[in-house]
Amino acid sequence: MSQPTIESILHEERLFHPPAEFSQQAQIKSLEEYQQLYDKAKADPQAFWAELAEQELHWFQKWDRVMDWQPPFVKWFVNGKINISYNCLDRHLTTWRRNKAALIWEGEPGDSRTLTYAQLHREVCQFANVLKQLGVKKGDRVGIYMPMIPEAAIAMLACARIGAPHSVVFGGFSAEALRDRLVDAEAKLVITADGGWRKDAIVPLKDQVDKALANNSAPSVKNVLVVQRTKQTVQMEPGRDHWWHDLQQGASADCPAEPMDSEDMLFILYTSGSTGKPKGVVHTTGGYNLYTHMTTKWIFDLRDTDVYWCTADVGWITGHSYIVYGPLSNGATTLMYEGAPRASNPGCFWDVIEKYGVNVFYTAPTAIRAFIKMGEHLPKARNLSSLRLLGTVGEPINPEAWMWYYRIIGNKRCPIVDTWWQTETGGIMITALPGAIPTKPGSATLPFPGILAEIVDLDGNPVNANDGGYLAITHPWPGMMRTVYGDPDRFRRTYWEHIPPRNGQSLYFAGDGARQDEDGYFWVMGRVDDVINVAGHRLGTMEIESALVSHPAVAEAAVVGKPDELKGQDIVAFVTLEGNASASDELKNELKKHVANEIGAIARPGEIRFADALPKTRSGKIMRRLLRSLASGEEVSGDTSTLEDRSVLEKLREG
Ligand code: PRX
Repeated sequence: MSQPTIESILHEERLFHPPAEFSQQAQIKSLEEYQQLYDKAKADPQAFWAELAEQELHWFQKWDRVMDWQPPFVKWFVNGKINISYNCLDRHLTTWRRNKAALIWEGEPGDSRTLTYAQLHREVCQFANVLKQLGVKKGDRVGIYMPMIPEAAIAMLACARIGAPHSVVFGGFSAEALRDRLVDAEAKLVITADGGWRKDAIVPLKDQVDKALANNSAPSVKNVLVVQRTKQTVQMEPGRDHWWHDLQQGASADCPAEPMDSEDMLFILYTSGSTGKPKGVVHTTGGYNLYTHMTTKWIFDLRDTDVYWCTADVGWITGHSYIVYGPLSNGATTLMYEGAPRASNPGCFWDVIEKYGVNVFYTAPTAIRAFIKMGEHLPKARNLSSLRLLGTVGEPINPEAWMWYYRIIGNKRCPIVDTWWQTETGGIMITALPGAIPTKPGSATLPFPGILAEIVDLDGNPVNANDGGYLAITHPWPGMMRTVYGDPDRFRRTYWEHIPPRNGQSLYFAGDGARQDEDGYFWVMGRVDDVINVAGHRLGTMEIESALVSHPAVAEAAVVGKPDELKGQDIVAFVTLEGNASASDELKNELKKHVANEIGAIARPGEIRFADALPKTRSGKIMRRLLRSLASGEEVSGDTSTLEDRSVLEKLREG
């Protein structure tokens, strides 16, 4: 098991056609139908999206113009009025879906809850009124730091309902990381829980919020709402902290959805880049609603009787787009699971599939590789025959893992959609449509209709088939991020200046290396910047380096990724110490713990290597390429002539 290498995927010739019975009932039934849609969208993207927006969504007021593109800033459905909470809830209430399960939730300790569309609507309206009572107004930002419980989705939808952009922070992030995000977003209120279950242990979420807010270090935050989940004892600060259930109980269930401008901010979600602190990716209302709606509909091919399960956390974009907004906008039944495979229950995912008769299952390659290791006896002991479609997201999938997923989980019946996208893209960009596009293990296949993707060199010129290059998008799409919160210049620099405009046309630089084969299929290789993808989680090397140097023993740190069988990549940190500190295994452990405290357990380095000095160029730049080779145990190749002190390299090699 390993990451796809050029060799393994260049030789990948297997082609899997959608089963005929799947295609017959699918939304998009054949390659020809896909091609027609793709061509139509390419010929006139604005007309394509406008037709779907009209047909698929409810608008309080129609737009004047479909798109306004002032590169790199775009507006979709200009002056249209819409509310995504209305599209996810209210409009289903006048149909038979009123009493259909909207959200099925399974808690880690085995408790469960199902909310119909009518019930979810009621909870969301009540909670929206709670937010209003606490002074939250249209445009105010709200932080959400929660476990995977229905209240997380209720909170998001309630924010959307009153036009208060949410900023969800993954519950695995530390108090420090939470504080940075709350401060950057100037959040007025935070929603959390007394604790959350994580692999049989309790994560003290409220304590972390207290730490994040201590000494008035996030002064914008006026109130904290706390869901009682684990019944841990928590400190409640009078005047600031309130129990969710106390306020929810008495709140009115009458709260009409606020007509939002199509371009009003829906949410901020922080993600790591190669430089600086995590950036707040801004998504707006109308375009995001349409894009997540259409991608969910055509890619997950949802039928009205389906139970659909995406295993992501709502703290990531996958949870936003494909647990909450996309499925609910389609009137689907979306399943939310609080637990994760753990020693006490390694087969819990298969239990959940069997218990609820899950039909469509969407998870990450890292999870699949972990399942392979745990053994096929676990899924084989469960009845998985309800499954009809499988998906993956977050990192390249190696063909071996793809084949295992196909054979053992899908029983060779279920198409697999390998979906390439990013926090920034809002929704899936390159993927198979399961009834239409034949799949090749390891390839995300073809762009979604309306998405114009290319592999280019750094001058923006298309490269030949099978040549590696940079993945770029050449036309705006409705779900794309609008800006970096509070820093439009950073938005321009990060995504629009790596590749120069071509014939006056701006190209979106995704930060991924990829190639397109002779059939036009995309093979994404991974990041080309200083971002590492550990178990599908995106981390900036610079963030981890800053965390390391904030420890008194550390003088300098350089962080790189190395290939890892299970996680795709693992973190290796090269560290030089301050004069009075001495290298030891204890210090290594302490530093790993320190990074986990500063950022979160997902950023804990797998390996720390002490060094006397780091390899630098004469201008003082750390030569990461050399460190990457050293970390992966490869021969250091390529040009080392710019290295300032060659003995540094020799020592690192010996060490
Ligand atoms: O490198 C690509 C990888 O994940 C990055 C985006 O990370 P994030 O914003 O956290 O969003 C993850 C979930 C959408 C991309 O730049 N990536 C995501 N999906 C795939 C992938 N790499 C290869 N194949 C995929 N299917």
